[in-house]
Amino acid sequence: MPNPYPRFSVFIAASLDGFIARADGELDWLLGATTSTDDHGYAAYMQGIDTLLLGRNTYEKVLSFDPWPYAGKRVVVMSNTLDSIAPTLAAEVSLQRGTVREAAAALAASGTSSVYVDGGKLIQSFLAEGLIDTLTITRIPMLIGNGIPLFGDAGHDIRLAHLRTTTYESGFVQSTYRVIAASQNDQASTAN
Ligand SMILES: NC(=O)c1ccc[n+]([C@@H]2O[C@H](COP(=O)([O-])OP(=O)(O)OC[C@H]3O[C@@H](n4cnc5c(N)ncnc54)[C@H](OP(=O)(O)O)[C@@H]3O)[C@@H](O)[C@H]2O)c1
Repeated sequence: MPNPYPRFSVFIAASLDGFIARADGELDWLLGATTSTDDHGYAAYMQGIDTLLLGRNTYEKVLSFDPWPYAGKRVVVMSNTLDSIAPTLAAEVSLQRGTVREAAAALAASGTSSVYVDGGKLIQSFLAEGLIDTLTITRIPMLIGNGIPLFGDAGHDIRLAHLRTTTYESGFVQSTYRVIAASQNDQASTAN
């Protein structure tokens, strides 16, 4: 039986000590980390994506960027508290409530095939549900001490297979992993 869900993947930068933002959400440490014009594989990754699924905190941070960085891509914001999307973005951004599984089913029903999952808590929820296919993590050579963590306790171990690592002149080190546990879950549900 084919996988009923789209392919979910992660492409994210983290400090070497595992944070994706300072505790107040600030990204100054990341935005100032290099003067390189290399996009560290971002454009190539985005070419394979049709939809971004953002956690509400990430959406609120990205709203402060000018211009809106996802023009031309479908964006879905997961939130159970937001009342509405900013009117200027209403044509290209939609709101998804409910659970991770409900979001995955809704995306599948809308014909989505490849989803970029973004935001620490949202990524952790998708990992815990075994729904992430690949993780690409760009390690920034910086220790920021505390902040918003990329990973948390999923309640179970998650095995990963290393696919590749690229070292950039900027000092950024980017590794891509396939989530093995998710594949096993798929096989188990197919067998049942
Ligand atoms: N370093 C990087 O590359 C990078 C990338 C992305 C984001 N960031 C930064 O990370 C910060 C945001 O990350 P975050 O971990 O605080 O939050 P997040 O994952 O962006 O958003 C979490 C929110 O999403 C909503 N949500 C709905 N269903 C959920 C579910 N099943 N699981 C988890 N969340 C769900 C909830 O909002 P409601 O309470 O409204 O329901 C929840 O509070 C921002 O500062 C952003 O700039 C950094």
